[in-house]
Amino acid sequence: MNNSVAGFSKLTKEEKINWIANEYFAKPAEAVATIKQYWNSDVKLQQLHDEFIENTITNFYLPMGIAPNFLINGKYYSVPMVIEESSVVAAAAKSAKFWATRGGFKATVLNTEKIGQVHFLFNGDSVKLQRFFDAVKQTLIASTESITANMQKRGGGITSLELRNKTGELEHYFQLHATFETKDSMGANFINSCLEQLAKTLKQEAQNHADFNEAEKEITIVMSILSNYVPNCVVRAEVSCRVEELAEKKIENPQLFAEKIVQAVNIAEVEPFRAVTHNKGIMNGVDAVILATGNDFRAVEAGVHAYASRSGKYSSLSHAKIENGIFSFWMEIPLALGTVGGLTSLHPLVKTALEILGKPSAQELMQIVAVTGLAQNFAALRSLTTTGIQEGHMKMHINNILNQYQTNAEERKMIKTHFENNTISHSAVVSFIENLRKP
Ligand code: MEV
Repeated sequence: MNNSVAGFSKLTKEEKINWIANEYFAKPAEAVATIKQYWNSDVKLQQLHDEFIENTITNFYLPMGIAPNFLINGKYYSVPMVIEESSVVAAAAKSAKFWATRGGFKATVLNTEKIGQVHFLFNGDSVKLQRFFDAVKQTLIASTESITANMQKRGGGITSLELRNKTGELEHYFQLHATFETKDSMGANFINSCLEQLAKTLKQEAQNHADFNEAEKEITIVMSILSNYVPNCVVRAEVSCRVEELAEKKIENPQLFAEKIVQAVNIAEVEPFRAVTHNKGIMNGVDAVILATGNDFRAVEAGVHAYASRSGKYSSLSHAKIENGIFSFWMEIPLALGTVGGLTSLHPLVKTALEILGKPSAQELMQIVAVTGLAQNFAALRSLTTTGIQEGHMKMHINNILNQYQTNAEERKMIKTHFENNTISHSAVVSFIENLRKP
């Protein structure tokens, strides 16, 4: 069987499911049942989800949890998180509670600039091109007016436009490099529409430019697209307290604790292998809120990791220090987010998540997301430098093992009691279950 198909998109949903089931499963009826089990009985709601993407066959559930008690700039938030990994929400909640009693988190949006580029080829005199660009710049911007009018009413729009000569890196390669303010929307569609119009006008104007020779008149537009690298759309999140205030039940020596956290961060700053995992821990928090609020986690991931490499070497996003008896822990990350447009007004759970957060502006959401990332990082570093990560992780993960083995209530009770005082590992739990089930 070669598993290829023509016209799959033209099949009905039922036909698509049947084709998949017959093609890939020894027991097609079971596969069909599993796929349909996740359909929503509310036909309208199901249709809404079917139409988010193409070739839909069912819904893929992820749990949505709440990390309460996030005190950010003096205001409490309950943060909705969508993630499959056990212990992430618990860790965020634990960190939130810890810092709520130590002054809470501070967050500041440093800037909100988005970027887009028209990449084009120009075969000619770059000085003439610059003169041409200076002459037509206002025409280029004016040509986007019908697209930018609404955004301008909201205080946004194109904030700058420049010509960049990239021929040192690639023959004939130039760019229109534009910056944008997109207020509460992530702005991808807005930016891309503006760029495509700029490209069209650029090509037309070049064709009519008297000073250009025939080759120069023929500008080749290669592509027009926003950049997901947004180093000037950055939010800072931070916590600090006196070192002795870090003390609590499991932190008996706060000085040692603070020093270990700083050492762990220093290691992530100099060692890329550690930095990637360190930053992954931050993204556990960031992505979970991004998903819950219907934002584009791929865009954020791409931009954040590029930012983590901006010095030329991949490094930690967060930083820590002890100075004059004060422990400080902070991070700055680029986040291009929206709280209007896209999924935010379409997906009922996204609307719910935004409502739980008090219908934040994009800037407020940037603050919440960055704080959740920092809290997650603090929780991970706290575990790593004290008990080790597995203790807490396995405590939460045990439920997955119990589900995998379809344990009943009585078995669960015995297993949980046993592992209150014994080290949890996958194999230890599995062999305990097997022993329990021995006749
Ligand atoms: C696991 O999802 C995340 C951690 O590995 C992060 C870290 O090592 O800092 C625990």
